[in-house]
Amino acid sequence: MENLDFLTLPVTHPTGEYDVTIGYDLLSQIGRISGTDDNVALITDTNVGPLYAKQAAQQWENCVVITLPAGEAYKTLDSVRTAYEQMFAAGCDRQTTVVALGGGVINDLSGFVASTFMRGVRFVTCPTTLLSIVDASVGGKTGVDMPEGKNLVGAFKQPEAVIADLSLLKSLIKEEFACGMAEAIKHGLLSNKEVLPTLTQTNWGEGLRNGFSAEDKVAFMQLVHDVVTVKRDVVQRDPFEKGERALLNLGHTFGHAIEQVTNYEVRHGEGVAMGLVCAANVSYKLGFSTIDLQPEIEQMLKNVNLPVRLPRVDPENVFSAMQQDKKKKGKKLRYILLEDFEGAFIADDVPDDAILETIRDLQNW
Ligand SMILES: NC(=O)c1ccc[n+]([C@@H]2O[C@H](COP(=O)([O-])OP(=O)(O)OC[C@H]3O[C@@H](n4cnc5c(N)ncnc54)[C@H](O)[C@@H]3O)[C@@H](O)[C@H]2O)c1
Ligand SMILES: [Zn+2]
Repeated sequence: MENLDFLTLPVTHPTGEYDVTIGYDLLSQIGRISGTDDNVALITDTNVGPLYAKQAAQQWENCVVITLPAGEAYKTLDSVRTAYEQMFAAGCDRQTTVVALGGGVINDLSGFVASTFMRGVRFVTCPTTLLSIVDASVGGKTGVDMPEGKNLVGAFKQPEAVIADLSLLKSLIKEEFACGMAEAIKHGLLSNKEVLPTLTQTNWGEGLRNGFSAEDKVAFMQLVHDVVTVKRDVVQRDPFEKGERALLNLGHTFGHAIEQVTNYEVRHGEGVAMGLVCAANVSYKLGFSTIDLQPEIEQMLKNVNLPVRLPRVDPENVFSAMQQDKKKKGKKLRYILLEDFEGAFIADDVPDDAILETIRDLQNW
């Protein structure tokens, strides 16, 4: 296999283009790769900052490091205000580049800061979780949560560059790595089934933590590249979520509801994993899928330490949590279902009974 240090993936969007750079040991090269000069606000969180912010900040003469509390609970307008205040105190101006160094929370929040600080400054994102590499960092959606719900305030803000340093994933806890795998498997199911065996038959997380063979190192980089390509292709065709982009929600209607009824004890990626099993189950039961994908999908998810059964919850509660979307749109809930291994489609008119039965059948009794 060819020995490459990094791969680049170009992304075009309505107002320009940027590259996603995927590789190892890129932390000290963010400025060079993204062409960012010495006026930077580096936004990170309390887990990632102590590990990596110093090394990253050293490459710029003038860099203020803003360390926000970690976790979804802090993806708020209060954190945005804290970032603005620290930027003003450090003398940031219209020439400042906001660099995000963290998972999806920091990516979304920093992108929103960059889109609004002095009516918009440059934005570079360095995703540090597998989930944010394969999902959050590409597509331009940024924002924060509100007491009324997740991601309710935000903006489309395209980055100047996405720099994914896979070496940083070595410090990610196993559960978070697995959550990224759930989204990666989802992308494979959507439009690149060829990646699925390689993705799920090697313990990539352990390789990252304990050291890869040279061959595996390149193979993982290629794999991440191929998975990000699925997301890139979808958002390029549908940048403002008018149609096809909804397919990226495969497994999410079930997943979000399960997260919610368990008070977020189930992580997002774990909910997505359960949701993928539910989607496969419904798809076969209703004949949309001619083959029963559920056993194969379950095996893949189990291989990467993801749950394949729902916790003990009242099926009616999950079902009513799922209906929240429907209420907002004032019409019947639409489901993303699977058509064999040929991809996903949007199904209207799925009988409520079928959904309830699936939730009941897939409970972990
Ligand atoms: N913008 C989009 O299109 C999009 C898409 C998918 C998800 N998201 C958003 O992404 C968020 C979830 O992202 P996430 O799963 O990355 O969550 P996260 O940012 O909360 O990161 C998960 C945890 O890992 C820690 N962490 C991050 N990188 C680390 C590293 N290298 N080493 C050790 N610890 C590390 C974080 O501090 C945090 O505790 C959600 O808010 C979701 O809405 C956005
Ligand atoms: Zn997701």
